[in-house]
Amino acid sequence: MVRMGNTVADIGTDHAYLPAYLVLNGISPKALACDVRKGPLDNAKKTVEHYGIEDKITLRLSDGFDEIEPFEAQDFIMCGMGGTLMQELVSRAYWLKDPAKRIIVQPQSHAEDIRRFFVENGFEILFEDACTDGGKLYCAMAAEYTGNEIKAPVSYIYTGRLPECKKPEARLYLENIHARLIKKLEAEKLHGSEENAEYLEKVTLEMEEIINEMHSDS
Ligand SMILES: C[S@@+](CC[C@H](N)C(=O)[O-])C[C@H]1O[C@@H](n2cnc3c(N)ncnc32)[C@H](O)[C@@H]1O
Repeated sequence: MVRMGNTVADIGTDHAYLPAYLVLNGISPKALACDVRKGPLDNAKKTVEHYGIEDKITLRLSDGFDEIEPFEAQDFIMCGMGGTLMQELVSRAYWLKDPAKRIIVQPQSHAEDIRRFFVENGFEILFEDACTDGGKLYCAMAAEYTGNEIKAPVSYIYTGRLPECKKPEARLYLENIHARLIKKLEAEKLHGSEENAEYLEKVTLEMEEIINEMHSDS
């Protein structure tokens, strides 16, 4: 999802494996590997030294985007954090509202929070992908600021553009989310609010239709 030739900033880099991959494979000329804690940055330093790419990767202690200047990268990555934290970090960096910049995220949980942020703040999700690793399902998406208001169905924050991804992993990912929402719906019906139950009913019905379509496409 990183655009060829663009410098990246990887927020929450830990071992800096992704920045190392990007520069070693000629995708990014340079990268900023950022983390809020010193321990992960020490891990990152070891990776950078191991590959001898000290001239291409800058290590930076930073809480989210706080210590990054807007001109330092074009593509900004956050992987392996929860969607709730991601939306907090992106919302503090107003300068990401720039059509020339791309945000790439792989939310570990609550992907709906970062999608909601994108939808409500004029960012368009360009595409999404899904994969399995170690038996776990993951999704990732790329977004850019357009400033346009996005009219999306109520289930969009849970599905994003995964329905357009033709891989079986995308369908499996959505089936998992759907099953989780059904459980929430049952709990709301038993001892929650009528309003929440109505909302979840609508979301899960929409998702059922989407998943059925994905089944018939495959
Ligand atoms: C689970 S690791 C993910 C590492 C790597 N991005 C990956 O996907 O394999 C999450 C990393 O995010 C860092 N992190 C958590 N909150 C952060 C914040 N507010 N700003 C920057 N980094 C943060 C943690 O220190 C940790 O190294």
